[in-house]
Amino acid sequence: NKTLRIASIPGDGIGQEVMPEGLRVLEAAAGRFGFELQVTPIAWASCDYYQQHGQMMPDDWKAQLQAQDAILFGAVGWPATVPDHVSLWGSLLKFRREFDQYINLRPARLFEGVPCPLAGRQAGDIDFYIVRENTEGEYTNLGGTMYPGTEREIVIQESVFSRFGTDRVLKYAFELAQSRQRKHLTVATKSNGIAISMPWWDGRADAVGQAYPEVTVDKQHIDILTARFVLQPQRFDVVVASNLFGDILSDLGPACTGTIGLAPSANLNPERSFPSLFEPVHGSAPDIFGQNIANPVAMVWSAALMLDFLGQREAHDAIVRAIEQVLREGPRTRDLGGQASTTELGQALAQAVATA
Ligand code: NAD
Ligand code: IPM
Ligand code: MN
Repeated sequence: NKTLRIASIPGDGIGQEVMPEGLRVLEAAAGRFGFELQVTPIAWASCDYYQQHGQMMPDDWKAQLQAQDAILFGAVGWPATVPDHVSLWGSLLKFRREFDQYINLRPARLFEGVPCPLAGRQAGDIDFYIVRENTEGEYTNLGGTMYPGTEREIVIQESVFSRFGTDRVLKYAFELAQSRQRKHLTVATKSNGIAISMPWWDGRADAVGQAYPEVTVDKQHIDILTARFVLQPQRFDVVVASNLFGDILSDLGPACTGTIGLAPSANLNPERSFPSLFEPVHGSAPDIFGQNIANPVAMVWSAALMLDFLGQREAHDAIVRAIEQVLREGPRTRDLGGQASTTELGQALAQAVATA
């Protein structure tokens, strides 16, 4: 029997409420498909831990996680007690960088039974992947403040685009597009205003794309691209973007499919030199924490992506079928117009996995 070693990091806020539902559904899948789960619960990488220890994680965090097959992650951030840049650079962003999880794969899909905020769209009309660069770009600590506290204060924040880092995410996106029926890749840039990095990114897309003649490429400025997510979502198949543009698109895409409470993500180190990390796109949602009303589907779908990455394809497929069934038939959480609790949805999903 294959054993999967999973670190479970709930983090803050609703991360703590959706994680148990992710684990519940994983257990159901393990029971049905005959693999073992060895779950290591981790209380650090949370703002509570920070308040006790003055840092987000213990010094040996990397050694502890390196021994795992994958990391299942809830959400980090509790701005009332710890500034967001401190909690996130001290945990999630460290994982992405130090474990070289350079692909952030974020599907957006309109399911049957989910009310779509866009007029006239139905299930199947929206079904695309955002491939987000996850280790460099606009997310840096490079820069500083000159003449602080004066009227001449100047703040400089650098972006970093390496050829190595850009080519590898483009290659992944081309491969993904190539494997799909429509073979269509949208490259999100801003080559008019951001005059150095973005025309260069377009050029790298041309260079990497040489090897994928079957893939049609559509370069779009990020501003009109966001408009088209809303107006013509059926046009998208795979979208590749820098770290910041990918971040923005991956809240907008799922919002177009009803709620960000559905959106999963896979932070991948495709070479498997380090554990990959699977987490909802959403954050800790302080505004709804403590009420047991968060939608657990994003967490559960993320757990399914984890199983797929770890070789449990059938279990992944069964969880996705369970999500389809529950979204179609209910129960529904509040963000989907229902009254069900986080726990009720998790239970329904686990039950559906046993038969779906
Ligand atoms: P958020 O995603 O936490 O919440 C945005 C809105 O969406 C809120 O109204 C919230 O109630 C709603 N929402 C989110 N998830 C939901 C779910 N599963 N079901 C129903 N409704 C849901 O974004 P925010 O408010 O910008 O950030 C809150 C905190 O989370 C901040 O500290 C932020 O830095 C952090 N954050 C962490 C991650 C992460 O760990 N990956 C991602 C985004 C934000
Ligand atoms: C996400 C989040 C993070 C990001 C934040 C919390 C740093 O918004 O995973 O999308 O910007 O990458
Ligand atoms: Mn985000």
